[in-house]
Amino acid sequence: MNFEGKSIIVTGAASGFGAATAKLFAANGAKVVASDINLIGAENTADIIGKAGGTAIAIQTDVRQSSDMENMVKLAVSEFGGLNIMVNNAGLGHKSALMHEMSEEDYDLVFNTNTKSVFWSVKYAVPEFIKAGNGVMVNVASIGAKRPRPLGVAYNASKGAVATMTRALASELARYKIRVNAVCPLASETGFFKTTGLDTLPDALREKMIKEVPLRRLTDPIDVANSIAFLASDQASFLTGILLDVDGGKGI
Ligand SMILES: NC(=O)c1ccc[n+]([C@@H]2O[C@H](COP(=O)([O-])OP(=O)(O)OC[C@H]3O[C@@H](n4cnc5c(N)ncnc54)[C@H](O)[C@@H]3O)[C@@H](O)[C@H]2O)c1
Repeated sequence: MNFEGKSIIVTGAASGFGAATAKLFAANGAKVVASDINLIGAENTADIIGKAGGTAIAIQTDVRQSSDMENMVKLAVSEFGGLNIMVNNAGLGHKSALMHEMSEEDYDLVFNTNTKSVFWSVKYAVPEFIKAGNGVMVNVASIGAKRPRPLGVAYNASKGAVATMTRALASELARYKIRVNAVCPLASETGFFKTTGLDTLPDALREKMIKEVPLRRLTDPIDVANSIAFLASDQASFLTGILLDVDGGKGI
């Protein structure tokens, strides 16, 4: 896959899937805006890319905030001459909890981070795609959007909204030659495990989780990065509205 000369934004690029995605696109020629609420982490990703000979700039962005999202898109345009690819990856889960015992604060945090971010991204990135005459958006949903489980209802529902927005936007934006797809990853031991408390799972439960995956492992961030890159590539030019499971066969 060749992204030579393409301008791309990756949100949540400080860690996990976002960091792997930013590095992969840069290694294949893209000019990357590494955006995250965690500026030091985003700068670290941009530094690694720069030291490997790639092009990246970091920006602090809270994906829940309109002005931050607008500034992030403006930076891509001013530094790289436009925007070709938008990866909406920043997101978080909540501690395992029955929904009726969950706080409103946690519910709002999860929904604003995981879904309002896509709204702002559409508001600011899509006009740039329209100017360019094409564009690609890839959203990071979750296998939980399709196979929800107990104790993560709000998270799964927020990713369900991301999945539905992806398909609806694919249909709405095709008239502008804009493609919109999503990946639906299975669990991965990134920073996400800390936000959900999965990092403290007893070994026996972790082993059980792995045994339930036909390919017998959890998701590696590079699995997600490779899938995002494929969906964003010219090789996927006829694919839109796809919700691609990255799950080792768990959803079969
Ligand atoms: N790891 C998993 O098990 C898993 C599975 C399926 C989907 N996902 C999704 O993948 C995406 C990436 O998660 P990850 O696993 O790499 O976790 P991660 O915690 O390693 O990375 C998430 C990044 O998002 C950033 N972030 C959080 N809130 C933000 C905000 N308001 N504005 C900007 N940045 C913000 C964090 O600082 C962090 O760098 C998320 O949307 C997550 O829901 C994760």
